[in-house]
Amino acid sequence: MAVVTVPGPGRTGEPTSLPAAYFDRLYASDPDPWRFAERWYERRKRDITLACLPHERYAAGFEPGCSVGLLTEALAERCDTLLSTDVAAAAVSAARRRVAHLGHVRVEQRAVPGEWPEGAFDLVLVSEVGYYLGPDDLGLLAQRVVTSLTTGGVLVLCHWRHPVDDYPIVGDEVHERMRALTGLHCVARHDEEDFLLEVLAGGPPESVARREGLVQ
Ligand SMILES: C[S@@+](CC[C@H](N)C(=O)[O-])C[C@H]1O[C@@H](n2cnc3c(N)ncnc32)[C@H](O)[C@@H]1O
Repeated sequence: MAVVTVPGPGRTGEPTSLPAAYFDRLYASDPDPWRFAERWYERRKRDITLACLPHERYAAGFEPGCSVGLLTEALAERCDTLLSTDVAAAAVSAARRRVAHLGHVRVEQRAVPGEWPEGAFDLVLVSEVGYYLGPDDLGLLAQRVVTSLTTGGVLVLCHWRHPVDDYPIVGDEVHERMRALTGLHCVARHDEEDFLLEVLAGGPPESVARREGLVQ
């Protein structure tokens, strides 16, 4: 197991975001540190995430923190174009290899929120990434999401709920802060002991059944 140095609090005493080096060392000690390919827990969570997306298709998806690209590959089936990014070079290489056959998917090395991509997205998926960010970066993340979401677009948040010593905040706090900071409202929520998944949207609430003409 690699020894990973975690940064201390910033000048304001608030915790700061985990640096790229933290994730580089994780990937140096294990090419799939969270066992995304093998664990039933992860496969089931990917299926739940996809099932919670309120639209069948998205024109432009953005997935920061894509790791080795398992969720990327699954999301690609629902998106006309998909940009997936990760701060760690090893993760980007692995994800690129996994989706090399998919011409509509790009994988880039970028850290959010600082290296937020240009363009508008109707799906932004922040899955298991928010708790690596200190409060300042989480605030900037919220701003970036709001400015790049299209009208009718959705932000999907999914986070592990148990505390992890190294992480600046816990999953539930990511969701609370992102709801408050973005002003988006929750249109779907999957709540269980280990993880919380929320789909947030702007504008008036629009149920899937209403959109499909099943209710007035
Ligand atoms: C636990 S994995 C999540 C993978 C995938 N999103 C999922 O839910 O299955 C977290 C990934 O986020 C990346 N990451 C951490 N901080 C990041 C940041 N500020 N910007 C982009 N990626 C980041 C890590 O390198 C790691 O690959």
